[in-house]
Formats: sequence, structure tokens, C-alpha cells
Amino acid sequence: MSLRGRDLVSIRDLSREEITAVLDAARRMIPLAEGRKSGAQLRGRIVAMAFFEPSTRTRLSFESAVQRLGGSCITIADAGATSIRKGESLYDTIRMLTSYADAIVLRHPKEGAARLAARASDRPVINAGDGAGQHPTQTLLDLATIRERFGTLSGLRVVLFGDLKFGRTVHSLAYALALFGSELILSGPEGLRLPAEHRAELAQQGAKVREEPDAAAAIREADVLYVTRIQKERFPDEAEYRRVAGTYRIDAKSLEGAKKEMIVMHPLPRVGEIAPEVDATPHAAYFRQSFLAVPVRMALLAAILAGGRGGD
Ligand code: NCD
Repeated sequence: MSLRGRDLVSIRDLSREEITAVLDAARRMIPLAEGRKSGAQLRGRIVAMAFFEPSTRTRLSFESAVQRLGGSCITIADAGATSIRKGESLYDTIRMLTSYADAIVLRHPKEGAARLAARASDRPVINAGDGAGQHPTQTLLDLATIRERFGTLSGLRVVLFGDLKFGRTVHSLAYALALFGSELILSGPEGLRLPAEHRAELAQQGAKVREEPDAAAAIREADVLYVTRIQKERFPDEAEYRRVAGTYRIDAKSLEGAKKEMIVMHPLPRVGEIAPEVDATPHAAYFRQSFLAVPVRMALLAAILAGGRGGD
């Protein structure tokens, strides 16, 4: 069950037991992520951050995770400043990085890029988001947030709300929640429904999943309301984007019918889907969620690079 030396391209690469082990290890990493204790599991290790798409949280929390564990990073934060500009292929870029670093964290606008990179690399590759494809490490920290609040990942009702069509975070999260036996309620604009292939996969998993176009009804039932941004950059057609832009916004009033313990999550960045007034309500969990990115990524990197059960 060791993750040592393994790639993480899709959340499907991990079993339920492996996910649970990473989340357990992540909990033990919290004091280190807060800077109250220091770790050395990655001492002498170099992790390459290859980011070919904008990122704030994902890249910085990975870098923080590496450094909190005594490792160091080499970073491509702007593809325009690399030889990609000169026409170098992703394959060659990755081959080169394998001789400079012990693992590669990749974010790329093209779906399937992380799979290609994993083939090109004899070092572990971690997918930090590939187009509208997958975002498995986001899923791990989403699960950590839910488990911290509810003590379980089973038997909960999770509303996935917003851009389910292009949102890679929900594509990974839906699979994982189904794996743990939570119920999924899909809601949001008609034009942004979960693609058929994902719905078919969930059906094949035997997932409890249904659609609830009425946002207020979905919110009343929710234990977790997982809101996403409309993925403007993925729309092939500007007119299609304009049809759905600004069609939903969660504010304090929309949460009036919610259960007391319901949490609102968001992978961030938000660009208007959640009104700032929600931050002051006990429902807001998205900043805790973005903090948990650090201990979760610490646990994952320790398991992949240092072996064992997530860096014990
Ligand atoms: C998400 C992403 O990049 O897919 N952000 C993140 O990693 N926290 C969500 C988004 O950009 O909307």
C-alpha cells in the first residue's frame, strides 16, 4: 500500500485505504504546517513545480509543504519565461526536469498532460490540474476538510454546485465521494451540467447521485455545499460563456434554509459565486479548506518521496 515512487495523475490511482492513510497522515502534519513543529522528511529532496497555467494556492501550498519538510523547490511559474516559448515540447521539458528534481508537480491547460508527463518521467509526477480533467490533490484536501468537520466521509449529502462541466475539482471529487459512500446532489445552471461520461462512471460505481436544479431545495438538504467558479478559460465559445456568466451567487440569504452544521466549500478563487458576507457565517469552510492544502500536500509528498505511511 506504499505510495513511494508512485505518480498521482487521477484520484482513481488511489484506493479508499490509501486516501484514508494520506488523510490520517495529513492530520498529524497540521502542527508542522502551522510552523509550530519542524519536519525533515524531505531534507535533501528537490521538487519541481511546473505550472503552465495560473495558480496561487496550489503552487504556493505545494512549495510551502516541501519547505516545511526541509526540502526545496525549483519552479516554473510562467511558461512564457521558459524554452516552451521557443517551441520545446512538454515531453522534452519533463525529461529535462527528471534530471533536476526528485518529483514533478505539473499543472497544464491540456487534459491528459499529466498522464503524458508520467510516461515521460521516471520520477513521480503529481497532477496539479490538467485542463478540465482531474485535480486529485485538491480532492484530497477537500476530503480532509469534510472529514475534519463531520468525522466521516460516508453517508453525507454533498451538493456540487456551479460549473460541473469544465470544473476539474468536481470531476475528481465526485468520484472520491462516491467511493466513500456519500450522496451527490448536482445543481447549478443547466448549461454547465456534469458531462455524460462522468455521470456514466458514477452510475457504474453504484453512486447515489441525482440532479436538483432548484438551488434552494438542494441547499436545504446539504451537509456540504461545494461551490465552483465558472471556468471561463475553458469555454470554446465566448457567447456560451456570456449566457451563464453571473447566473448564480450564494449569499447569506440563500443559506437561510440550510442545516445549522452545513458547510460551504469552494476550491477558490471565487469571482462572485460566494458573497463576502458568507465569510462571517459559521457555514464558511473555504479558508480552512485552503489551509488544509498544506498538511495534505505534506503528507502526500512525504509518502511519495520518503515512503512509509505519509511521513511517519
Ligand atoms: C481550482 C483549479 O485550478 O482547478 N483552483 C484550485 O486549484 N484551488 C479551481 C478554479 O480555478 O476554479
